[in-house]
Amino acid sequence: MQKVNSLILDRLQSEVSLIPELARHLIAAGGKRIRPVLTLLAAKLCGYQGERHVALAACVEFIHTATLLHDDVVDESDLRRGRSTANAVWGNKAPVLVGDFLFSRAFMMMVDDGSLRVLQILSRASAVIAEGEVEQLVTANDTSSTEAAYLHMIASKTAALFEAAAQVGAVVADRPMADEEALATYGRSVGVAFQLVDDALDYGAGKNLGKTVGDDFREGKITLPILLAIARGSSEERAFWTRCMETMEQEEQDLERAIGILHRHDAIDDTIRRAESYCAEAKGALARFPDSPARQALLDLADFAVHRAF
Ligand code: IPE
Ligand code: IPE
Ligand code: MG
Ligand code: MG
Repeated sequence: MQKVNSLILDRLQSEVSLIPELARHLIAAGGKRIRPVLTLLAAKLCGYQGERHVALAACVEFIHTATLLHDDVVDESDLRRGRSTANAVWGNKAPVLVGDFLFSRAFMMMVDDGSLRVLQILSRASAVIAEGEVEQLVTANDTSSTEAAYLHMIASKTAALFEAAAQVGAVVADRPMADEEALATYGRSVGVAFQLVDDALDYGAGKNLGKTVGDDFREGKITLPILLAIARGSSEERAFWTRCMETMEQEEQDLERAIGILHRHDAIDDTIRRAESYCAEAKGALARFPDSPARQALLDLADFAVHRAF
């Protein structure tokens, strides 16, 4: 990871000084670096001995960083990794453009790697993430959107990169398709679990989140906790959700009231339980690999995705 981090800092250099300045603002604030860790561990799990996984892990984090810059513009978020978002500091234009730069750098790094298969997996993931973000845009403020649509959306916007990150670890190690697929399944399931928990944490289940609680509510995003509460709620509650999430007439105490309703219907706990079942699926996908420190770390990472508080 030290090599990955120094490569990240190295590859975001540009003669246009606003680019490294803005990118560093986000990157130096830390972040969990889960996706590059996935690439490194997957490669290790597959017995890979070379160095290609380091650059590919950095590339994966570049893609992630680009999506965060864009996502915070789209979501009008003020806080990320415990500090002001780039859009809060520089406005919307600069982070959109710097995000484009980071995406493009990521593609340069894939080309440097030289594997068309890697390029295929990561470029597809980038397109799918964008699809997921657009899916979210069009289902926002629609209280009649479905659980199936929600699951498809989070599989795209979040799980696709987890999947690709784990899969390329197997690809660099030149492992048979079945191993590649097992790691892809593992990554996808961890990614879905991760986003389910993220959507629960948005209603205040975590500590030191580094993001503003209630962002999803204020934006009218129909996440699983809301879908469960709508399905289980009274007609009076349904009117409340329609007012807050569709017509967006939110009042001072509404977030607090929403959190109360969610808990009364076990919507937060059930979202976490759903994440736990994806986590179990992820772990199951590793059954074909013999025990090793890398395998244990991947099992722990799946648990962390669910039991994290930040
Ligand atoms: C944030 O991802 C975006 C989501 C998919 C929820 P992370 O929670 O992994 O963000 P950092 O990199 O640790 O800040
Ligand atoms: C993040 O989705 C997914 C991507 C960045 C593609 P969210 O909007 O739910 O994540 P946070 O809460 O801003 O991290
Ligand atoms: Mg967001
Ligand atoms: Mg978003």
